[in-house]
Parts: sequence; C-alpha cells; structure tokens
Amino acid sequence: MKVLVINGPNLNLLGEREPEVYGEDSLQSINDSLLFHAKDLNCEISFFQNNSEGRIIDELHDARLKYDGVILNAGAYTHYSYAIRDAIAAINIPVIEVHLSNINNRDEFRKTSVIAPVCAGSIAGFGKRSYELALRAMSYLVGEKP
Ligand code: DQA
Repeated sequence: MKVLVINGPNLNLLGEREPEVYGEDSLQSINDSLLFHAKDLNCEISFFQNNSEGRIIDELHDARLKYDGVILNAGAYTHYSYAIRDAIAAINIPVIEVHLSNINNRDEFRKTSVIAPVCAGSIAGFGKRSYELALRAMSYLVGEKP
C-alpha cells in the first residue's frame, strides 16, 4: 500500500503555532512517528506540505497515478475550498480527511467541512494520533490489513 500524506496551510508551523490547540510536536516529528507506524502496516508513505491551494490540487491530481490513497489535512481550506473538494471528487483513490483538533467544538466556521462529503471518511480531535488513526483506516480501506 502506498499512501501520500498532504498537509495544507500553516501546518508547517506545528509545534510553535497555537500549541494549546495543535500540540507541541513539529510536523517533522509527526511524520517520523507515522513512518514508524507505516512500517508496521507494511505501507510505503510519502509526505507533502504546502500553503497554496493550487499546489495541493496539483499534488492530489498526481497522487491518483502513484498512490493507493491520500491522507489530507487541508487546514483552513477544509472550510471553504470548493476547488480542493472538486479535486478530491475527480480522483479515483480514497482520501481520508484529518484534523488534529476537533473542528466541531471550536469556531462556528470550522464546523463546516466542504471536503467531507467527497472523502472516504474523516478523523478529527485526536491530536497527532489523528494521522495514525487515518493510516490504520486507510490500511483497512485498501485492504492490506483488515
Ligand atoms: C486543522 C483545523 C482547521 O480548522 C485549521 O484551520 C487548521 C488545522 C486541524 O488540524 O485541526 O489549520 O485542520
């Protein structure tokens, strides 16, 4: 199983950005721990982070030819990017939506995810473990370790 993990805007600043909301781990250390879990799941994992909507869309398009699935934390784009929503709908591999924080118990605008309806599923509120749970869900979806 080959999985791409995409992180969107401001997630490059994890660890220093609002640690009381997003935790004290850097994106690098979250990715390192995902690599560890990926081994256990017999999964090949790659990472991409970008702050631009268009770059995330390009990466989703390319992913359809190279990966079995995508784990996506679209950051604030989650709440209003119809372009990312359409990109997810356009590709024929599963995308799992991930958030560190529980987007349902924060600001009103965060309760809407325009990407959720086109994702295979959503995981939010478990901090850095949200990514690990998404990886396990992906493994289940793609069928290597049900
Ligand atoms: C986030 C939640 C979003 O609302 C926010 O804009 C982020 C991070 C999360 O992982 O909890 O940038 O996606």
